Amino acid sequence: MRRAVCPGSFDPVTSGHLDIVRRAAALFDEVVVAVGVNPSKSRLFGPEERIAMLEQGVTDLANVEVAGFTGLITAYCREIDAQAIVKGLRSGTDFDYEIQMAQMNAHLTGVETVFVTADPQFGFVSSSLVKEVATFGGDVSRLVPDFVLGPLTERLAAKRD
Ligand code: PNS
Repeated sequence: MRRAVCPGSFDPVTSGHLDIVRRAAALFDEVVVAVGVNPSKSRLFGPEERIAMLEQGVTDLANVEVAGFTGLITAYCREIDAQAIVKGLRSGTDFDYEIQMAQMNAHLTGVETVFVTADPQFGFVSSSLVKEVATFGGDVSRLVPDFVLGPLTERLAAKRD
């Protein structure tokens, strides 16, 4: 049984994230989307909200589940017996950031990191940019799933008021 973890903050999940998860699900027997729930970080959406949105995004993927984790991702991989971490790469900047984490994680426990290159249609999509564009009224409807668009618009409006 080959189990992989797709970790991230997912604040909120984007169509780019879901594309990586879908492709990871085709590569591994089981995939756990692991939502970092570090309480010291300020997020637009709380842990339960981020997990619930991801659950909606993976309903059609029978070998994918969603869970929250705290602490080191390597410890979580050990806890659930995952052999690999899957990360999406959009650019060289992502690679520079991710390779350091991959090497640290391999150093800590020997867990492998598998990089999946982003589909070009999502190459410019990040949760932070989506939030920034949506804050100023830009159209992000093709960058996040419908079940994210509504809550995102509402949450940003509530923050403005
Ligand atoms: O979506 P993000 O913010 O890029 O996700 C980052 C995340 C949660 C995957 C990363 O910060 C992480 O793995 N955090 C857990 C703490 C940890 O293990 N840190 C050391 C990484 S080498």
